[in-house]
Amino acid sequence: MRLHPVLEGLHSAETFNTEFLEALFRRVREIEARPAEFQEALRGRVIAHFFEEPSTRTRLSFESAVHRLGGAVLTVADAKSSSTSKGETLADGARIVSAYADLLIWRHPSDGASRVVAQYAGVPVINAGDGRLGHPTQTLLDLCALERRWPDFAGRTVGLMGDLVHSRTARSLAWGLALMGVRLVLLPGPGLDWESSFERRLIDHFGMRLRWVRHPLIQRWTGSAEARVLEPKGLIQGHLFQEEVPPLERLDALYLTRMQRERHAEIKPAAFPGIVPEMLRDPLLQDCLLMHALPRREELPPEVDSDPRALYFEQARLGPWVRMAVLLAMLREDAWPLPELTPLPAGQPEPGLGPCSNAHCVTHSEGIPTPWRVVGGHRRQFLCALCDTLLPVDYVGCRSTQRVHPAHSPAAIQISPENIQPFRQREEALAAGYAWGG
Ligand code: NCD
Repeated sequence: MRLHPVLEGLHSAETFNTEFLEALFRRVREIEARPAEFQEALRGRVIAHFFEEPSTRTRLSFESAVHRLGGAVLTVADAKSSSTSKGETLADGARIVSAYADLLIWRHPSDGASRVVAQYAGVPVINAGDGRLGHPTQTLLDLCALERRWPDFAGRTVGLMGDLVHSRTARSLAWGLALMGVRLVLLPGPGLDWESSFERRLIDHFGMRLRWVRHPLIQRWTGSAEARVLEPKGLIQGHLFQEEVPPLERLDALYLTRMQRERHAEIKPAAFPGIVPEMLRDPLLQDCLLMHALPRREELPPEVDSDPRALYFEQARLGPWVRMAVLLAMLREDAWPLPELTPLPAGQPEPGLGPCSNAHCVTHSEGIPTPWRVVGGHRRQFLCALCDTLLPVDYVGCRSTQRVHPAHSPAAIQISPENIQPFRQREEALAAGYAWGG
């Protein structure tokens, strides 16, 4: 497995920063206002779309973006028509397709797939949806749609509703909204909540606080009387300390998701949370933008479409413009750069840590070792570098001193990233020749 210190391309909303987002919002307006200025920008460039899962909006809006920029498009719209159906690995697919194109746009059912593609492709890669994990360009257009309605993100409250565990659009958006200082209200359907380790990472990364709220609609949506709120630092309100579980007073936006049956989500449709027109009269939703990545099912009936709060067709409409800005930043940095994304390390394989515990991780579908990366400052966490699942690291060795320490001890925190050697158990470290560092 070839390892880059940093993955080239756009793989995760975790790589966004506010400078990048704000510059992107401006660039999208610029392109939309004067499209003719950009129509030759990708002349002579070939962009390959490799979609191993169904897609309407993402693939066609990327293709539309390439056409509007004067580039050429290669497309595999169905894995059955490619050598994937003959058992070709992602690594080989990536090597081959990147010899034919200047940039790859890849969708795949496994968590972390685009990061594997990026390690073998000689050209930048954009993640167009990898399993349940992420869909970063969807988040960009979701944020762009909000930015056009809101003068400011900070202090807003957004509900994320439905199939949180399987929805890559909701996971990516949670990260993007937290970055913009938005308060998140989590409204999963019964049994469809995301993993606590993902939420813990959001909380730690953004210094958020977890609290609870109640509202009669929450009960109807989730089957439970109260919902969790992840609140950014600085938004904590005085009155909240008076009541243990205060009422939820308003939502500025509600992000609905579809039940992802293809990822084995299964509850009775009647129990899956959604909007019915009568709910729109509730004061909670008075100024609430209704969002959805689409395609929708029963959770968002067409009767809602004419309501001025419906934002989902605007989200979809922005797709090509947002993707044009991304393509320009990746292929024409000379003329239309955007601030650098925060790099995502490729990680290092460590067989001693065992297989990734996420059954949907690309390490299993590709039969490759689990690379690790480390996040966090004073509370370090070790993650599968491909699917971001928490790895069981209880001890950390220092490669230069050959001493091993408990993972959260002050001595372990001080080990510089390039000297870190993670272990599951102390005995494994001792067997590897490390001395107990206390
Ligand atoms: C989503 C996806 O594929 O992740 N759609 C999209 O890209 N607009 C959401 C979904 O399929 O439910």
